[in-house]
Amino acid sequence: MSAQVLAQVLRPLGEIFKASQFPDLLVGLGEPDDAAVWRLEEDRALVVTTDFFTPIVDNPYDYGAIAAANSMSDVYAMGGKPFLALNIAAFPNDLPAEILSEVLRGGAEKALEAGVVVAGGHTIQDKEPKFGLIVLGLLHPGRMLTKTGARVGDLLVLSKPIGTGVITTAFKRDLAAPEDLKEAVEWMKRLNNFLAEMAEDVQLQGGTDITGFGLMGHAWEMASASGVGLRLSFEKIPFLQGAQRYAQEWIFPGGSIDNRAFYGQYVRFSADFEEAYQVLLFDAQTSGGLLLAVPPEKLEDLMQRGSERGQPLWVIGEVVESSGIEVSA
Ligand code: CO
Ligand code: CO
Repeated sequence: MSAQVLAQVLRPLGEIFKASQFPDLLVGLGEPDDAAVWRLEEDRALVVTTDFFTPIVDNPYDYGAIAAANSMSDVYAMGGKPFLALNIAAFPNDLPAEILSEVLRGGAEKALEAGVVVAGGHTIQDKEPKFGLIVLGLLHPGRMLTKTGARVGDLLVLSKPIGTGVITTAFKRDLAAPEDLKEAVEWMKRLNNFLAEMAEDVQLQGGTDITGFGLMGHAWEMASASGVGLRLSFEKIPFLQGAQRYAQEWIFPGGSIDNRAFYGQYVRFSADFEEAYQVLLFDAQTSGGLLLAVPPEKLEDLMQRGSERGQPLWVIGEVVESSGIEVSA
């Protein structure tokens, strides 16, 4: 759903639930974030999120694994550790049971990899398949990662390359090179668990994950919630192999075009910035990486720990004292 329509349909909820009546709801009714956070005790809070979508690839196992990684990502994006999940699924009547079983197996094995148990769920009949998880996690309220936590001077670190929207769209149109799709699938299946598994002394405050609103949409949400501006450098942003070529061929999913139409007003590109590459920065991502605001004194430690665990991290820009996003070529 486009950001504009979503904001509109969610408005009445803000009138029904007053934040002051729910003091233990630390995140939920105010600034939109990746997941809701409910304080259980002084030093412990519950993180709750759900996400599901229609098939993005042909292989049912991969579809299940990607949907699960994507659902759990919002817990990681709050600085939490997921521990419990439920399946949420819709499948057509005429689809062989083995296919559904492969989707659920892909999701379950991905959950297990994250240390999460899938303890049940609910399935309904529908024309188009849909799958995802409801995920519960825990975090320390003092170590919460939010969209409001970016500070001027922080460096922006991204943990997965951009381009799953153009590549999966190219695949649906029979235009994708098999090796490009394969690489994109591997990245989409990858868990965003590196921060949660790093020692507790890598404590960050500003962060989110990159999904349907694209790098620009989610980066702007963080800038806006934190009351800061972001300065990005295109040449430092990592892209999946083939992504720039498909962009030049204008193979964008509808969501990427919608993202640009809505978030474009908040983004300033340097002169002569190629239009296809502008749109690519709005490309709707599935199971994208974390975007972290990292204080300069913590950067080296984070990069070091990332490389020890085989987690690539790219410094793509910085937080500045302005508003909106500036992108240089
Ligand atoms: Co998110
Ligand atoms: Co989400």
